[in-house]
Amino acid sequence: MTDADTAPAQAVKGKEAFGVYVHWPFCLSKCPYCDFNSHVRHTPIDEERFSRAFAREIETTAARTPGREVSSIFLGGGTPSLMQPQTVGAILDAIGKFWRVGSGVEVTLEANPTSVEATRFKGYRAAGVNRVSLGVQALDDAALKQLGRQHSADEALAAVAVARAIFERYSFDLIYARPGQTPEAWAAELKRALAQAGEHLSLYQLTIEQDTAFALLHAAGKLVVPDEDLGRALYDTTQVVCADAGLPAYEISNHARAGAECRHNLVYWRAHEYAGIGPGAHGRLDIGPDRRAIATAKRPETWLMRAESVGHGVETDEPLTRGQMADEFLLMGLRLAEGIDPARYERLAGRPLNPRRVALLREQGAVETTADGMLRVTLAGFPVLDAVVADLAA
Ligand SMILES: C[S@@+](CC[C@H](N)C(=O)[O-])C[C@H]1O[C@@H](n2cnc3c(N)ncnc32)[C@H](O)[C@@H]1O
Ligand code: SF4
Repeated sequence: MTDADTAPAQAVKGKEAFGVYVHWPFCLSKCPYCDFNSHVRHTPIDEERFSRAFAREIETTAARTPGREVSSIFLGGGTPSLMQPQTVGAILDAIGKFWRVGSGVEVTLEANPTSVEATRFKGYRAAGVNRVSLGVQALDDAALKQLGRQHSADEALAAVAVARAIFERYSFDLIYARPGQTPEAWAAELKRALAQAGEHLSLYQLTIEQDTAFALLHAAGKLVVPDEDLGRALYDTTQVVCADAGLPAYEISNHARAGAECRHNLVYWRAHEYAGIGPGAHGRLDIGPDRRAIATAKRPETWLMRAESVGHGVETDEPLTRGQMADEFLLMGLRLAEGIDPARYERLAGRPLNPRRVALLREQGAVETTADGMLRVTLAGFPVLDAVVADLAA
């Protein structure tokens, strides 16, 4: 790698947002569709030991990023709602001790919507959490069973009601394009969900991820998911129903009223800086002249022992080249309805976007330029987003 390959970190600096992601890697059981870094243990987890290790990694990471002010914290998983509130409190205290935390900080905790977990919501709020994101996944008991979930639709809706009573901001996730789902059935389910939704919803098309139980079933022909045309019809239904309800997409899978977007996820999509804490967490930090891609050990016990012995569980820590930074900026930024600033792309890549490719995509109706000069993917372009990004990045 030459100096010219390394983009000056200044090209991405000067932005205020700084996120801290904390990964809790344990779940009660493994859902058959999920390829997140989640692990099932049959002996109790020593939360105190983990929380001390989290504090050590927070201290080490904060020492590498002096002067930052934390604007968002996201406790994700795995199932962070399996943590006792005092464990969450200890993690948030450590973040506040070693970093400066902005007064309006958004603190999200991802929760599974079982009744047991809902009983902890008050404790999480007292610990400093001000937003929850619940994995409802479906409002249909047969579908929940197929997805391997540990809750019924009623139990999930009860957890949503508890969240609504306790937190000012809450969101929930649904998975659509499930086996056998029609656009009509999905529209009806989505409308029922919208009746219970606050100002934010995440709606993901079921993806068959490699090395999951669903991948095996799919390969054996025992799990049939919607084909491309049906997937497209389900996606279109999602856009129309949500826009009618005042929750348009601000990102390909995320819907919110204006101002209610998840600030933490915007950090990723706008290519700002974030620290990753805990097993299998990823970070992007501007250190010296570089933007560095950092990842920790995925196996919880490996991460724990490293964090205890050397103060962090980092396994890879590499500077990104200009090309990598520019590609990442396109990949993440074009997911957003607001699009990307082509001038920022040019600063990162050291060259402008190819004007011929942009013109061609514009003619095809896949992208458009806004009055303030942002380049964004159109509603017609979103279903083929991967191809648009690949075209612009080439
Ligand atoms: C980190 S995961 C799960 C958080 C939490 N443990 C739960 O299950 O509710 C975040 C979200 O990604 C979505 N997701 C996970 N795997 C998926 C897949 N294969 N296809 C579509 N969505 C998926 C689910 O909606 C899930 O709530
Ligand atoms: S979907 Fe959630 S609960 Fe299920 S295995 Fe993945 S992280 Fe755990």
